[in-house]
Amino acid sequence: MKRNWFLAALAFFLSLTAVILLSSNPLASAPGKFASSPSLRSLIGNRPFHIATAVKEKPLLYDPMYGQVLAREFNTIMPENEFKFENVHPERDKYDFSTTDRLITFARTNGMHVRGHTLVWFHALPRWLLEGNFSRDELIAILEDHVKTVVRHYRGQVYAWDVVNEVLNADGSYRDTLWLRAIGPDYIDMAFRWAHEADPKALLFLNDYGEGLNAKSDNLYSLLHDLVSRSVPINGIGFQMHVGFLSSDNPQEVAANIKRIGDLGLEVAFTETDIPIAKLPGKTKAEKLAAQAKLYGELLQVCLDAPNCHTFGMWGFTDRYSWIKKFQGQDNAPLIFDAQYRPKPAHQAMVEVLQKWRRGD
Ligand code: XIL
Repeated sequence: MKRNWFLAALAFFLSLTAVILLSSNPLASAPGKFASSPSLRSLIGNRPFHIATAVKEKPLLYDPMYGQVLAREFNTIMPENEFKFENVHPERDKYDFSTTDRLITFARTNGMHVRGHTLVWFHALPRWLLEGNFSRDELIAILEDHVKTVVRHYRGQVYAWDVVNEVLNADGSYRDTLWLRAIGPDYIDMAFRWAHEADPKALLFLNDYGEGLNAKSDNLYSLLHDLVSRSVPINGIGFQMHVGFLSSDNPQEVAANIKRIGDLGLEVAFTETDIPIAKLPGKTKAEKLAAQAKLYGELLQVCLDAPNCHTFGMWGFTDRYSWIKKFQGQDNAPLIFDAQYRPKPAHQAMVEVLQKWRRGD
């Protein structure tokens, strides 16, 4: 009798522990917990539209709410730093896919897509590469190996890549980078061709800012035109949309630019949208948050209205972990959830735009 009691108590204790562990494990968390208004993801449903966010691994491991809100609200993730060169390719002959593999597993477990950011950039390069004094041929070989190895590793798992990131200056000249200096502007063509060879089904993007109508976007347009006319395998351009910092805050201009890029047969994806409130109109924080909400809604509407835009991505979703906070030295509250994961007016504005879209208005 005593023994039965003991076993029953043990079974109860074990199942309680399992419930606690499962509910604090982001991989096992059920989307829907803590839901307030409808989630963005639920409004998209099965429609072919990516509602995307940058993610970081650390909060996914240590902050259970992060994973829950992420899986509830988004159908696509973009690792914020984990795919960058220094992280996946820390030594010349060594790749490290451990972190990106875990993020891919999180996405798979939660039925989400993964967008890869980024293969070729001038930041986040490892020391061995910066200080290696490599010849042109050596750097071509290194870059070819990098692009092909990373893309091949994730063939069929990463549906789209930001192949090259931030390649032009505002005046249309190529940005002075390690790759440009050593290889010349051809590095862009090469990277797209290698990525396509490694995964012919992946969608390949050039990612940059310059989204409205201005000198930089004119020059990006000419570059895209050139790439298309030389049959470089490119599917589209990512608009970073760091509004008010480097990017446009004019939805009408962004729409016009998306249209002309569509005429080249290319897609546009919003990849890194965030809208800091400091420079927005309004005296009080509430007024600024309302202005932010309006702009989020308008930009999402611009993408939904364009036949060549199927991705609205934000550079994170909670003000708790935004990169803006770190480098602008103040809480600029640029994202759609506050630091306590409460949906902000911007979230509500997006919900309303998606509800209208579903009704077909
Ligand atoms: C940023 C990350 O958000 C930061 O965490 C990191 O310290 C630096 O890079 N444009 C890009 C992104 O294409 O890769 C940058 O991400 C933000 C600007």
